[in-house]
Amino acid sequence: MDSSSNLQPKAKRPFDIHAVRQDFKVLHQQINGKPLVYLDNGASAQKPEVVIQSMVDYYHHNNANVHRGAHTLGDRATTAFEGARDTVKRFLNAAAREEIIWTRGTTEALNLAAFGLGHHLQPGDEIIVSAMEHHANIVPWQMLAERTGAILKVIEISDQGELDVNSYHQLLRERTKIVSVTHVSNVLGTINPIAEVIEAAKKVGAFTVIDGAQAVPHMQVDVQALDCDIYVFSSHKLFGPTGIGVLYGKKTVLNNMPPWQGGGEMIERVSFEKTTYNVLPYKFEAGTPAIAEAVGLAAAIDYLASFDRAAIDAHENALLTQAQTLAADCPWLKIVGTAKHKVPVFSFLMDGLHPSDVGTLLDQQGIAIRTGHHCAMPLMDRFNAPGTARASFAFYNSAEEVTQLFQALEKIHRLFT
Ligand code: ALA
Repeated sequence: MDSSSNLQPKAKRPFDIHAVRQDFKVLHQQINGKPLVYLDNGASAQKPEVVIQSMVDYYHHNNANVHRGAHTLGDRATTAFEGARDTVKRFLNAAAREEIIWTRGTTEALNLAAFGLGHHLQPGDEIIVSAMEHHANIVPWQMLAERTGAILKVIEISDQGELDVNSYHQLLRERTKIVSVTHVSNVLGTINPIAEVIEAAKKVGAFTVIDGAQAVPHMQVDVQALDCDIYVFSSHKLFGPTGIGVLYGKKTVLNNMPPWQGGGEMIERVSFEKTTYNVLPYKFEAGTPAIAEAVGLAAAIDYLASFDRAAIDAHENALLTQAQTLAADCPWLKIVGTAKHKVPVFSFLMDGLHPSDVGTLLDQQGIAIRTGHHCAMPLMDRFNAPGTARASFAFYNSAEEVTQLFQALEKIHRLFT
C-alpha cells in the first residue's frame, strides 16, 4: 500500500510571504475594525485552501466507510485514508506504515501511550516527565501512577526555561520505566535536547515517549534517527483539520501494547467465548475513523513539503529575532522563556496588567493571542506567574504583523499603566 518508493522529489515552491498568505483565506478579514493578526498558532493553526478543498473534494466525490464497502466509493475512501497514513509515515520517516496509529489528537495519543505501557509498571517504578509539560503529558501518567503504584518524577528547568539535563541524569535509574518529555514547550517555545533525553533513557531500559505537538509545525522530525519508542502530534497545529492526531510507535512496542478500545475494525475474530485482535495499525483503531480529517492532514503535510524547510525556518527565526529585539526596548515587558534554542513562541508579562487583560486589549486591535496557564499549571507555578500572554507565530505570519503586535503593546502600556 505504501507508495513512497514511486514518489519523485518535486521542485520546491519559493517562499514568498505575500503569496503564502494568499493560501489562507481566513487571514484576510477585519476583526474589531482592524486587519486580523493571528498569533495564536500554538493553540490551533490556520488551514491553507488546499487542505479545506481536499476535504470538500473527499466529501463531494469519495465519501464512504473504509475497509468495509464492497463498492467503488468504499475503495476510494480506503485508498485516500491509507494513502494519508503513508504520507504521515514519510513525514516522520517511520520504518513502517503499521507504526502510524490515528488518534483524535495528541491528548488521546498520550492517553493511549500511558494505557498501553502501563502493564510494564510495578509499584515503586518511576515515570519521568519535565516541569514544562502540558497537562496532557502529566495527567495520563499521574492516572497510570495511581493505578499501578508507580511514582512520577519531574525534571527541573532553569529560569531561562531550559531542561536541567543534570537533574534529568540524576533522576534516571533502574526503576525508571518511562520517560515522557515534550519536544517543544507550548509556553516557552524551548526546543528540548530530546535526542540526548532518549539516548540516556534507553541506557536504563526506559520507554521513551515524545510529545511533538508543538514541534512538528516548526521542524523536520525523524523518528528513526531519534530512536524514540513513541512520538505523538496533532493535525490541527500542523495546518490540518481538528479531530485527528497521530501516535507513532515502534512496531515491537506497539505489538506489546494491549488494545485499548474495543469495537469494530480492531478485531480479527469475535465470539462470545473469545475475541482475537487485528494486526497493527488496526488493533488500536476501533470504530469508524476520521477519514476526511486524515485526508486533510495529508494535504497539510504535502502543502508544507511544497516549500523548502530551510526557507520556512529562516522566516520563522527572523520573526522570533524581531520580536526579541523589539521586546528588548520595552522595559515594562518580561519574556517568559528565553532558551537558546526556541521555536517562534513568545510568552510575556506586562508590568501592571493581567495577561487576560492584555489578550482582550489586543483583540480590540485585531490581534489574536492566547492568555492564561496554557494547560501548563505546574510551569506557571515554577515561574510564579498567574498565567502569561503568548504570541505564537506560524510561517504565514509577517514581519509587519510582529511590528503591529509591538505597536499595540506600546499603546496598551501607555494607556493602562
Ligand atoms: N496546547 C494548546 C496551546 O498551547 C492548546 O495553546
